[in-house]
Amino acid sequence: MRIAAIADLHFSEERRARAEAIAGAVASARADVLVIAGDCADGVEHLADALALFGEFGGVRLMVPGNHDLWQDTTPFDTRRLYEETIPAIAAEYGFHCLDSGPLVIDGTCFVGAMGWYDYQMRQRETPVEGITVSPIHVSRGEAGKMHFSSLPDARETGWEALEPRDYAANGLVWQTNGERPQVAVWSDPLHLDWGETSERLAAEMAARIRAQIRELADGCRRVVGVTHFVPFAELASHHLQSPRRAYAKAFLGSPLLGEALLAADNLALVIHGHRHRQEARRLHGIVVADAAVTGAQDGPLLFTLPD
Ligand SMILES: [Fe+2]
Ligand SMILES: [Fe+2]
Repeated sequence: MRIAAIADLHFSEERRARAEAIAGAVASARADVLVIAGDCADGVEHLADALALFGEFGGVRLMVPGNHDLWQDTTPFDTRRLYEETIPAIAAEYGFHCLDSGPLVIDGTCFVGAMGWYDYQMRQRETPVEGITVSPIHVSRGEAGKMHFSSLPDARETGWEALEPRDYAANGLVWQTNGERPQVAVWSDPLHLDWGETSERLAAEMAARIRAQIRELADGCRRVVGVTHFVPFAELASHHLQSPRRAYAKAFLGSPLLGEALLAADNLALVIHGHRHRQEARRLHGIVVADAAVTGAQDGPLLFTLPD
């Protein structure tokens, strides 16, 4: 079985030429299965046009959404409905099976998966640079979609090591290094989506969804291929970063709960994910784990051949 995988296409009309080139490479790869591991479009209004690009692909089409596929420009956001109903329906219209709705078995190879989410467990606990002071700040969507900043009830300036999950949940950070001008980093999801629950609960729900799919698989499942958008293993986020902005973003990479759920399958063979925007395949926990990002100028679809 040949699998072609991509992630983070981030389709919009401005990126049409690049996206068409990727879709052309997918079609000519003559794979049996296409996997799109999230962030196919930059905003839900572009998702149908993005998926339509893969009309030439002759095999089975699978996808999970990413956070950007759920982004909306206007309120009220109906993120939960987009995830549960609208996106699976758009996927079906363009011949894709959305794995979040249930696993799919193709010739004994069982595909399971869900978008996943982040729970701040992958945050960088060590300071990116010496002498940095930080203050978490609450970011929300204000009038006319403008970013609104407000201080936390217990506003404080601390060292990097004191940052806790609840600080990341505020979605903004102001930092200052050695008397230089203060800088701010913002995680933009809350400006474009609203789940009505905490990220930690959502990440756990996504992991439970994957566990349920694995339990549901029949014994005749020869091997399991897992797909998530968010990063499923902490090892993929373990490198120390010295840029405060990039170190901050690590908290939003994914959740190790996703990987734990996938490893519950006895015959897990391959895990495909996205969201980091850095294409890579490596061996981890005895399986191949691949970030299928096509964000780099040289990136094309990743191709995997599983023995028959
Ligand atoms: Fe992305
Ligand atoms: Fe993403």
